Amino acid sequence: MPESRVASPLMDEVRAGLLSSPKRLPPALFYDSAGSALFEQITELIEYYPTRTERGILERHGEDMLHTAGSELEMLELGSGSSAKTHLLLRALLERQEHASYAPIDVSLSALEQAKATLAEVFPGLEVRPIHGDFLEGLASLDGSRRKRLVLFLGSTIGNFDPAHATDFLRAVRENLHPGDALLIGMDLAKTPSVLIPAYDDSAGVTAKFNLNVLARLNREAGADFKLEGFRHVARWNEAESRIEMHLESRSRQSVRVAALDLDLSLDKGERIHTENSYKYRPGAGEAILRDAGWTLERTWTDEQNWFALHLARH
Ligand code: SAH
Ligand code: TRP
Repeated sequence: MPESRVASPLMDEVRAGLLSSPKRLPPALFYDSAGSALFEQITELIEYYPTRTERGILERHGEDMLHTAGSELEMLELGSGSSAKTHLLLRALLERQEHASYAPIDVSLSALEQAKATLAEVFPGLEVRPIHGDFLEGLASLDGSRRKRLVLFLGSTIGNFDPAHATDFLRAVRENLHPGDALLIGMDLAKTPSVLIPAYDDSAGVTAKFNLNVLARLNREAGADFKLEGFRHVARWNEAESRIEMHLESRSRQSVRVAALDLDLSLDKGERIHTENSYKYRPGAGEAILRDAGWTLERTWTDEQNWFALHLARH
């Protein structure tokens, strides 16, 4: 059969990842509607400290952050998900401005639709303009309104890029903005593995389900026949790279077919498919990425334990 009957770039990445050694799968597979719902559950887990830690910083310093960003702001958010934490900033924004607009950008349509419905209820005066699509495409699609922009990038989603790509990405974000615009970015900080590992391998198995959903999605959408019981969720701390790695480990020697790619694979017992990284920044590392990307760091807010940082950077 000729190759590549499925033209989608995501499926090309799936093919390339499954044919490489070690095997990997693109993280973009995580966020279908099932994945977005599971991620929301993750944010509520006792072990998953990032969401509540970042929310605490936003609760305490949100007004200060907006004040530092400037006045008459237009707010945008990359990878907004449920926009739940953003409510804190939107409330403060609406108190300061007569007219406020917010453009959540996300690849997950289900997350955007839910976020929009909730925002309409909680903030009837807010203009919400959801953009369904990729981070940078969404940012580039914005029209030429010349209010000062504040771009939010919360949840340490930046930590899912390796440092070189994080720099390239934040440079590209900056190139889509104007002098004076601001970026408020959340970065999770390095800490003891005894806190990190459970955050990515919780006792209720929600994160395992989130990771395995990548295979379930390939079964649903690409005619694959992954047996989910045949794989184990693995979260490991890579000290040298300062990152949590997520893998799916084959419990036995097995073969898998991905019909849409006309691809037959074999996996050894214990063989892993790498699905995601979550970098945890050592002191100065996140700041260096911002600087290398051309941003000027203005302020940083953290929690008392220094577990999570929010940086405000200026174009
Ligand atoms: N900001 C939220 C959600 C973080 S999870 C929080 O802090 O809780 C990451 C979010 O980014 C998900 O909603 C996912 O759908 C979205 N996302 C992932 N990759 C994306 C991409 N390339 N373009 C746009 N959104 C993306
Ligand atoms: N940005 C989130 C993080 O790195 C995404 C995430 C949370 C995640 N749990 C996960 C990604 C488990 C893959 C698997 O914290």
